[in-house]
Amino acid sequence: MAEVSSRQVAAPVLGRLVVVGLGLIGGSFAKGLREKGLFREVVGVDLDPESRRLAVELGVVDRCETDLAAACQGGDVIQLAVPILAMEKLLAELAGLDLGDALLTDVGSAKGNVVRAAREAFGGMPARFVPGHPIAGSEQSGVEAAKATLFRRHKVILTPLENTDPAALACIDRLWRALGADVEHMEVEHHDEVLAATSHLPHLLAFGLVDSLAKRSENLEIFRYAAGGFRDFTRIAGSDPVMWHDIFLANRRAVLRTLDAFRDDLDALRGAIDAGDGHQLLGVFTRARFAREHFSKILARRAYVDAMHSNDLIYLANPGGSLSGRIRVPGDKSISHRSIMLGSLAEGTTQVEGFLEGEDALATLQAFRDMGVVIEGPHHGKVTIHGVGLHGLKAPPGPLYLGNSGTSMRLLSGLLAAQPFDTTLTGDASLSKRPMNRVAKPLREMGAVIETGPEGRPPLTIRGGQLLTGMRYEMPMASAQVKSCLLLAGLYAAGETTVIEPAPTRDHTERMLRGFGYPVTVEGNTASVESGHKLTATHIEVPADISSAAFFLVAASIAEGSDLLLEHVGVNPTRTGVIDILKLMGADISLENQREVGGEPVADIRVRSSALKGIDIPEDLVPLAIDEFPVLFVAAACAEGRTVLRGAEELRVKESDRIQVMADGLVALGVKAEPTPDGIIIEGGPIGGGEVWSHGDHRIAMSFSVASLRAGAPIRIHDCANVATSFPNFIGLANQVGIRVSVEGEK
Ligand code: S3P
Repeated sequence: MAEVSSRQVAAPVLGRLVVVGLGLIGGSFAKGLREKGLFREVVGVDLDPESRRLAVELGVVDRCETDLAAACQGGDVIQLAVPILAMEKLLAELAGLDLGDALLTDVGSAKGNVVRAAREAFGGMPARFVPGHPIAGSEQSGVEAAKATLFRRHKVILTPLENTDPAALACIDRLWRALGADVEHMEVEHHDEVLAATSHLPHLLAFGLVDSLAKRSENLEIFRYAAGGFRDFTRIAGSDPVMWHDIFLANRRAVLRTLDAFRDDLDALRGAIDAGDGHQLLGVFTRARFAREHFSKILARRAYVDAMHSNDLIYLANPGGSLSGRIRVPGDKSISHRSIMLGSLAEGTTQVEGFLEGEDALATLQAFRDMGVVIEGPHHGKVTIHGVGLHGLKAPPGPLYLGNSGTSMRLLSGLLAAQPFDTTLTGDASLSKRPMNRVAKPLREMGAVIETGPEGRPPLTIRGGQLLTGMRYEMPMASAQVKSCLLLAGLYAAGETTVIEPAPTRDHTERMLRGFGYPVTVEGNTASVESGHKLTATHIEVPADISSAAFFLVAASIAEGSDLLLEHVGVNPTRTGVIDILKLMGADISLENQREVGGEPVADIRVRSSALKGIDIPEDLVPLAIDEFPVLFVAAACAEGRTVLRGAEELRVKESDRIQVMADGLVALGVKAEPTPDGIIIEGGPIGGGEVWSHGDHRIAMSFSVASLRAGAPIRIHDCANVATSFPNFIGLANQVGIRVSVEGEK
């Protein structure tokens, strides 16, 4: 069989396409391939003379045949697009013909029955029959609705069998791709299960609900007042009854399985209403509300990983500008994560305000929802967590997908190591490359059973039901994530768990545990917890994130004529390294209105532009400014003289290798930047324009946006979608204060 390219081809490469059944799907398949010119001729077969006439008139096919045998004689590909229950008869007829080398394929919505019918008719599944199912129906039907573009960007599922000829499969696959479809391969049974749940059950419910209401005596009243909810839910009850009757009969077994599972869930909901169990109802409703969005996110990320190309979100940062005004940047990411974790494990209801509605913190939130915690919101930064207590988490229904968030994965692994159930933690392409042995190794020493991917990378599979024992652990690196992970495991471990850090790291976990009434001992570089206590619900006000404020601290420092106030920023001393470093470089930064909110120090930060000078960054400040180096490198590029950073090898294992990626970007903009194994040397000087790549790292994308303030020409920054992980509405706030950055292609 000749190769078929997915591009438009000038000359036909295949002989004859026969399409049996000229409805919407068969007609669109024929028309699309005819327009592509892939076949020398396209022949239609249909019992209905009007469909045959229209098919020729509308250019769907070259010609029609009434006789199946005549049409198929010498055909290269035969597409069976008849109603699903007519398939048996058609296959029996085909089995009696000499089909030569022709490939057979079909478009039935259920596959098990087609395969069974083919086996019976042919005395075994023909190797050149490739079952298929395009998911591209519409309310319209008939050949008159056929569209050459119907399958563009729609999924087509092919369900080859063990004996399917690979060349036949490849050919059918390419035909669909030529029509712009997104082709996937699946096993027959899996296809039928998935479709029963995602398509067949919803149709059954829609038909059933409308009929049930229509039968009642007060039906007119019901339909008169049927507003959006009824209309939206029952739209698909307008679908073709005969076609759906066929589908339910064809996919009977899988539909019954999914219907039974749904009936159990419906009974549980009924029980909750009957018992006045609002908590149960809220749990179902909040989970459902966010589930659709969550799953689309997972799917988008999967596509990104698999296809190795994503929709590159490009920032265009125009040169110049100065900053003024007052803004509040979004809530602290570290504190937002911890508020969900501890709020979920507490007894009682915790209210959170100022919660960061960025993807990372939302990944943590979703993980706890998946483990049965009822969480309302977030809505304008407010979250209500109905805590389940230290021992109240439930096994999640599947792997916990944590997107881009290293903090979620590392902290969660500590508390999941002590649960009675197994969990698997997965993430996006960036998270899948990050080192997890730093938590897996000490957790194993405490008795945890954890499997990692190769070289200690995600996914992590954590075996439940282990008894952990407290230990004294000297961390080889200054990491708040490792410290927090072990302290969380320590809440469940026999005896005391002590973590010793080589240098101070952020202490939000220790502070927040105390805020929830859990005793924590901190002495110098040592933090300890003991199991046997409980967390009591509290109120948490999340301050603005100093790591997000950092972009504006640098921006206002380097842009001449700037004067900016950043409100309500968390200034926990384990986080203020960025202020200390900028001040050493000569920045004009002052803290006003200093106060303590919920155990965390907070201030308004005023920053005015000033001439920066290069410095040797003191190594003891590195862990206290660990997330702010990308933007500090931009400050260094704008400073007079040389800036040297050492002792910061941790930057190489963040969301990207931040030393290399920043160096590459700075060099592309004409800055002298030389990476070293544990840091970088940057010579201040003019910044040019150009193209830079953030490698999916949110902080790199925002740092180069800031660099534009001093650039000589526009900077195009690739791969910026992950800015949403930590700083939703970065572009909006940046524009508000005077940074000229926008999403390319958007006004
Ligand atoms: C974090 C700790 C830091 C930081 C990360 C958040 C936390 O990581 O880089 O963005 O919330 O504990 P390490 O502890 O691995 O340095």
